[in-house]
Amino acid sequence: MKKWGILLTAVLMLTFVLAACGQEKNNGAGQAGNKAGQTTQNGAQAAEPDTNETDKTLTIGMSADFPPYEFHIKNEQGEDEIVGFDVEIAKEIAKDMGAKLEIKDLKFDSLLNELASGRVDLVISGLSPTPERAKQIDMSKIYYKAEQAVVTREADKDKFATMESLEGAKIGVQQGSIQEEMAKKIPNAKLTSLAKISDIVMQLNTNRVDAAILEGPVAKSFVKNVKGIVITDATPENEDEGYVIGVKKGNKELLDQVNSTLDRLIADGSIDKFVTEASELAEK
Ligand code: ARG
Repeated sequence: MKKWGILLTAVLMLTFVLAACGQEKNNGAGQAGNKAGQTTQNGAQAAEPDTNETDKTLTIGMSADFPPYEFHIKNEQGEDEIVGFDVEIAKEIAKDMGAKLEIKDLKFDSLLNELASGRVDLVISGLSPTPERAKQIDMSKIYYKAEQAVVTREADKDKFATMESLEGAKIGVQQGSIQEEMAKKIPNAKLTSLAKISDIVMQLNTNRVDAAILEGPVAKSFVKNVKGIVITDATPENEDEGYVIGVKKGNKELLDQVNSTLDRLIADGSIDKFVTEASELAEK
């Protein structure tokens, strides 16, 4: 009996330690932002000691399966970290607010609900501004634009060189994405909607889907890193061009803050710099 008690305690303790480790890892990306936020906070504190201000945390929801926007790497300390140009933008917004940054890696499909229910303050996740989404959330100005791409296996590059050639094909897309909507419009296409882009690429590589529709920069990043897949000449059309940051409906103060940070980052060329740096990082 006593032995079991000890064993149970040990298991519980181990679980606790593991959970704590996981926590730390998840916050990896937030950490850098924390530091940035901290500096501003301390500065602000000296000028006006507002305790509420200094405790502020900005929680970002993103689906970190999306290089170069947001993705996981092993950093120099060998730890898991979420990086990407959306993360850099998030850090800047937190810095301007004098807030700590917390990043939540969630399923893309769940992000708008998380925002509506207040579990995250912002969605920064390569989010395209669709009229449908505009009914559920408020959106910032467009901070970046990119094209769509079709990815397939090397051998099928010419077979899927046009959008018409995708008719009746098996197409992999991310759940809840505009690419899913685009694929639904292709006559007789058979959709495989998955939560993670890496799973879609796997399906492609194992012949379970014929092609995938992805954001151009994401397609480029995967094609560079995964053997045997290529971008075809097909050019998917998309009316909801560009990426925006999602804010809870009616939160005008935060929306204004986000837009003013974006204004600064667009004007001084930071966004382009973040994109270049994140793309390089994604190639490693
Ligand atoms: N731009 C597309 C959309 O808004 C896909 C975004 C997917 N983002 C991600 N982090 N996986 O639907």
